[in-house]
Amino acid sequence: MLSPTLDTVRVFLHVLAAAVWVGGQIVVAGVVPGLRKSSGSEGTKSLANGFARVAWPAFVLSLLTGMWSLLDNGDTSTEYSVTFGIKFLFYIAAGAAAVAHARSDKRPIIAATGAIGLVFSLIVMFLGTLLTNA
Ligand code: HEM
Repeated sequence: MLSPTLDTVRVFLHVLAAAVWVGGQIVVAGVVPGLRKSSGSEGTKSLANGFARVAWPAFVLSLLTGMWSLLDNGDTSTEYSVTFGIKFLFYIAAGAAAVAHARSDKRPIIAATGAIGLVFSLIVMFLGTLLTNA
């Protein structure tokens, strides 16, 4: 069997954080319509609070492990730096959309910022995969 290294731990934690942040949003989006019908806004609020407790630590973990990756094996080519820069802008924008989503009480804004946050997070994930294969 292959032996795990510190790199294995770094990538494992980064992928775990990505799975929780992105996968959690997809699951919540799938569960909310049914929950709203059965439990109303009490139910969706409770789900949102539970999600936030798990998702924000994952968002921070992705930043810490992403910085670790950059220090460890960041490529210095222009292509790599541009790809990383775009990824980081989408990371910030995804976080900002999630904050706006959590703070708003207007249904269309909640829907729009939720959708934007998920799409931006998927872009971040895609660009991360691109960095790994550089
Ligand atoms: C929601 C936030 C994030 C998601 C969903 C995400 C997702 C990913 C994924 C799926 C990979 C590929 C992992 C692999 O298979 O090796 C990756 C790689 C990478 N990510 Fe992220 N990431 C996020 C945030 C960040 C942040 C904030 C940074 C930098 C501060 C970062 C820096 C990197 C780097 C440098 C790599 C390449 C690692 C390597 O080549 O070993 N990521 N990311």
